[in-house]
Amino acid sequence: MSEEFYKVAEVSELIQGKLYPIEVDGEPICLVKLEDGIYAFTDNCTHISGPLNQGEFDGCAITCPWHLARFDVRSGKVLRGPARQDLYTYTVKVDGDSVFIGLPPLDE
Ligand code: FES
Repeated sequence: MSEEFYKVAEVSELIQGKLYPIEVDGEPICLVKLEDGIYAFTDNCTHISGPLNQGEFDGCAITCPWHLARFDVRSGKVLRGPARQDLYTYTVKVDGDSVFIGLPPLDE
């Protein structure tokens, strides 16, 4: 089964480098527009679920506000512990001015 896409924003309304916490189908997600595209990742740190949208954002890296783990928001990769698990990143599609995020299909 393929992902289900939800419209979450307008490209023209997003400020580059600003973090947007959104909720899609009950999932906390953080959205950010960078120079090379729009990225979406889980808003829960993989350490113990710190709110990443409240962290410091620098270039393409987010720092968790709780224990300072760092992640690359484009790939979700851990750049610094204490987190060990990469962030889940979502598929982002742009159609005209509309931004869509793909949620994985539910387990059967
Ligand atoms: S909850 Fe994010 S580093 Fe601990």
